[in-house]
Amino acid sequence: MGKVFVCDHPLIQHKLTYIRDKNTKTKDFRELVDEVSSLMAYEITRNVALEQVEVETPVTKTTCHIVSGSNKLGLIPILRAGLGMVDGMLKLMPTAEVGHIGLYRDPQTLQPVEYYVKLPTDPTQRELIVIDPMLATGGSAIAAIDLLKKRQCTRIKLMCLIAAPEGVAAVQKAHPDIDIYVAAVDEYLNDHGYIVPGLGDAGDRLYGTN
Ligand code: PRP
Ligand code: URA
Repeated sequence: MGKVFVCDHPLIQHKLTYIRDKNTKTKDFRELVDEVSSLMAYEITRNVALEQVEVETPVTKTTCHIVSGSNKLGLIPILRAGLGMVDGMLKLMPTAEVGHIGLYRDPQTLQPVEYYVKLPTDPTQRELIVIDPMLATGGSAIAAIDLLKKRQCTRIKLMCLIAAPEGVAAVQKAHPDIDIYVAAVDEYLNDHGYIVPGLGDAGDRLYGTN
């Protein structure tokens, strides 16, 4: 079974509180999501492979470590809200390629509808991080991971800001091999499929729509 990592660093939890606050305006919301994404990128890359290199400091030659060149990363935001997390992650992993999966949740059926797919080059050779602020029913994340697996991608992680227990359980059932990184697992999903307490509609709050 894939693990669930709750990124409980105090700075992440502090910023998440302001992200949740309905009085936080679009500009601040966007900046906070960007910052939390950088902090979560730090956690999700904890096990990235290193390789040894020789470096000459002003004092002497020494052996140090850099991220292995064979460790190619791909970020896969689920449009549209996942886009809000991309720049924050790229700050820490600037050479990652970014693919996009366009899905929206049908408001009646809550089922994900696919409208766009463009993956990084050589996706099967990369570690792929699917990113989306919200894991509600899990339908969107499961559809995105299905799509990657159908294209023979095997090294996949899922990163979200807030998850509902229902969404975590659904992803674990559909994709028991996937590790999930979240800043919080909330209480439950309401009748409209919104996470409670959650943060509302992530896409609308990022882009000022409603
Ligand atoms: C939201 C969110 C996730 C999805 C989560 O996107 O960003 O993609 O809902 O819900 P689920 O786990 O039940 O599938 P939405 O469909 O509102 O589209 P948007 O990002 O374009 O606003
Ligand atoms: N999508 C969101 O943006 N928010 C939720 O709470 C659930 C799905």
